[in-house]
Amino acid sequence: MPKGGAKLTRLLRKDLVGLKNVSKAEIELILDTAEVFKEIAKREVKKVPALRGKTVVNLFYEPSTRTRTSFEVAAKRLSADAVNFTASGSSVGKGETFLDTVKNIEAMHPDIIVVRHSSAGAPHLLAKRVACGVINAGDGAHEHPTQALLDMMQIRESKGKINGLKVAIIGDILHSRVARSNVYGLTQMGASVRIAGPATMLPRDIEQLGIDVYTSIDKAIKGVDVIMMLRIQLERQTSNLFPSLREYSRFFGLNKRNIKLAKPDAIILHPGPINRGVEITPELADSPKSVILNQVSLGVAVRMALLYLLCGGTKDAHLD
Ligand code: CP
Repeated sequence: MPKGGAKLTRLLRKDLVGLKNVSKAEIELILDTAEVFKEIAKREVKKVPALRGKTVVNLFYEPSTRTRTSFEVAAKRLSADAVNFTASGSSVGKGETFLDTVKNIEAMHPDIIVVRHSSAGAPHLLAKRVACGVINAGDGAHEHPTQALLDMMQIRESKGKINGLKVAIIGDILHSRVARSNVYGLTQMGASVRIAGPATMLPRDIEQLGIDVYTSIDKAIKGVDVIMMLRIQLERQTSNLFPSLREYSRFFGLNKRNIKLAKPDAIILHPGPINRGVEITPELADSPKSVILNQVSLGVAVRMALLYLLCGGTKDAHLD
C-alpha cells in the first residue's frame, strides 16, 4: 500500500469481490484509469487492443440488464473475448453445483470470471477456488462493487470531487448490495454518508460503519450534494416490511416537494432498474438533476478499467 497519499500505478490484487478493505489509492487508480477509457465510447471505432487474447466469462445466476451488458461491452471494447453464461439453459438445471460449474469453466482457461449470484459470499468462495481473476457483479444483499465504483465516478464527474460531499442513500438499505458497497467506498473517499429508509429496512448496527441513519427522507436529504435512490427489492423480501407501495412512495419517495430540501445543485443517482412512481417520480427521474443514464455510460468505462487492471495493466494505458 503506498504511504503518504502516493498514487498506485497498478492493482496488486487478483480479484475484486467487494469494496470493504479496498484502499483509497486503489479506488483512485480504478477511477483515473476509467477516465482514460471513457473517451473510447466517443470514437467511431470503439475498440482498442489492450486485452487482445484474453477471455472474460460472465457467469450470471441472477437477472441483469445493465451489469452483464456493461461487462460484455467493456470486454469487447478492449478486444477480449467475452462469453456469457446464464444459469437458465445451462447444466445447473440438471443439478450441477456452483463449484462444479465454475471448475468446468475454469478448465477452459478464462482470464477473468465476472459472477453474479443470489448467495452472499459466492464470489469470495469462487476467488479462493480458481486461479483466474474474479469480479463480483452482485452477491445477494451483500456487495456490488462495480456499481459503487461507477457511482463514485459519476459523483466525481458531476461535482469534481468526492471528499467532503454529503451523500444521502435512500430506500431499501437492508437488501441493498449497492448501498453497502457505496458506504464502504464513499466513506473511504472522504464523503459524509447518511442513509434513510423504513426502520424495518435498515440493517442493525449500520451506524458503526461511520454513517448517519435516519427514518425520514426529509431529514436525510436536507442540504445534501448527492441523492442516491434505491429500488424496493420485492424479490428479496421474506416478510411485509412496509404496508403498501403507495405508502412507501408517500413517506420515502423522492418528489418535487422534498427535492427542494437538498442543495439547489444536488444530483440524483439510481442504480436501476427504476420503479417509476414508487421511489422516484417520473418527472424527477427524467429531469436535468438526474444522472441515471450517464451512470450507465460510465459503468462501461469503470468495467473496462477494472478488467484491464486485473489483467495486469498499468495506469498509463496505450489506447491506439
Ligand atoms: N445496477 C444493476 O445492477 O442493474 P442490473 O441488475 O440490470 O445489472
